Amino acid sequence: MHFAVDGPGSSLNARWKTWGWFAALLQWRDRLLGDPNFQRRALRVPVVRWIARRRMRALFDLCSGFVYSQVLLACTRLGLLQILARSPHSAAELAEILQLPRASLERLLEAAESLQLVETRDRGRIGLGTLGVALLGNPSVGMMIEHHSAFYADLSDPLALMRGELDGTELGRFWAYSQTSSPASLGPEQVCDYSRLMAASQQLIAEQVLAAYPLRRHARLLDVGGGEGAFAAAAMRAAPHLSACVFDLPPVCARALARFDREGLGDRAGTCGGDFLNDPLPMGFDLISLVRVLHDQDDEQALELLRSVRRSLGSRGVILIAEPMLDTRGAEPVGAAYFGFYLMAMGQGRARPAAEIRSMLESAGFTAVKSHRTAAPLLVRVLSARPGTDAG
Ligand SMILES: C[S@@+](CC[C@H](N)C(=O)[O-])C[C@H]1O[C@@H](n2cnc3c(N)ncnc32)[C@H](O)[C@@H]1O
Repeated sequence: MHFAVDGPGSSLNARWKTWGWFAALLQWRDRLLGDPNFQRRALRVPVVRWIARRRMRALFDLCSGFVYSQVLLACTRLGLLQILARSPHSAAELAEILQLPRASLERLLEAAESLQLVETRDRGRIGLGTLGVALLGNPSVGMMIEHHSAFYADLSDPLALMRGELDGTELGRFWAYSQTSSPASLGPEQVCDYSRLMAASQQLIAEQVLAAYPLRRHARLLDVGGGEGAFAAAAMRAAPHLSACVFDLPPVCARALARFDREGLGDRAGTCGGDFLNDPLPMGFDLISLVRVLHDQDDEQALELLRSVRRSLGSRGVILIAEPMLDTRGAEPVGAAYFGFYLMAMGQGRARPAAEIRSMLESAGFTAVKSHRTAAPLLVRVLSARPGTDAG
C-alpha cells in the first residue's frame, strides 16, 4: 500500500478550520460548552443528556487516570491477577494470601472490578475480569506497568520536567545511552534493565512488523539498534533462509549473541558492536531495520542515522522503520501525550507523524516510501523505502 499523507495539517478537517465561518462556529461551541449553566441545562434535556454525561465521564477520567494506573500497579505488585488466573478466590482467602487488611483488600477489589481487571463470580468469589485476562496474556505489559513507576516519578512536577529543572530523571537514568556522549562505553549493568524490558515487549511488535512486511524477498538483515536480538530472532524464525546481524552498543550485542546461541540461531546470526551515531554501519545487507529506534533520537541525529543506513545499503536494498507514530487515527493520545512526555522525560527523541518520517527519509536519499498496514497501529506502524539514485 502506498504512503498516504494524512498529517493533521493536511487533512480536510484542518483546512476547514482555517475558514472564517468555521472558526466563528468553533468559538461559539467553546463558549457554549464552557458555560456551567449550559452544562446544567444539558443534563436535564433527555436528548442531549447522554452526550453531556459522556463528556463529564471523559473529563473525570482525564482528571483521575493516575489513580486508575496506581490501582493497576497495586494489582501487579501483589501478583493478584496471577493468583486469580489459577482459580477464583473469596476476599477472605485473598486477604490471607496477600497479607493485606481485609478492608483495604476489599477497597482494591472494588476498584479493580470497576476497571474490569477482576469480576465477582458465583458465591462472591473473585475471578479475572476481561481486561485482567487480556493483561495476563501479555506478560511484558506487567513489566511496563512496573517500569511506569519511574515515569510516574518524573511526571510528579510536569512543569519542572518541561522547564528542564529536574536534577536528572528516572527515565534518563534507566535509558543510560540517552545521557552520555559516548554510549559505546556503557557497561553491561547499565544496559541490562532496558534491554530486558525491550526484549520482553518485542514479541508483539515483531509479529505485527513481520505480518505487515514479510521478509520473503530478503536474504541478509541488519537490525540497527536491535537490542538483545529479539526482533532479529523472530525474523529468522519467520524466514528460514534469512541471516541476521544486530548492530548495537557492545554490551547489548553480547546479550544478543547469548540469545542467538540459546535459541539455536547462532549459525545464522551475528552482531556488530558500536555507536551508530559515530561509527559506520557494516555493509552487504539487503534489508536494514530500525525498530523503535528513530523516535529515540533528536531530529539531527535521526537524520544522520538515516544517512548512515543509506550509505550502508549502497544502491540496493530496503530500509524498514517500525515504531509508534504520532498521527495514528484513534490513538492520538498514545503518540502525542504518552510518547511525547515519555521521550521528554527520557531526555531525547520524539514521536513523529508518518509524513515527517517520509520527508526525513527523502532528505537522507531514500525514495519509494511505502506505508505497510499493521493490525495494531497504536503499537507500531511500518514504513519502507529504497535508496534513491543520488548519494543522499
Ligand atoms: C528503544 S531500544 C530498541 C531496541 C529494539 N530495536 C526493540 O525494538 O526492542 C533502542 C536501542 O538502540 C540502542 N542504541 C541507542 N543508542 C545507540 C547508539 N548510539 N549506538 C548503537 N546503539 C544504540 C540501545 O542500546 C537500544 O538497544
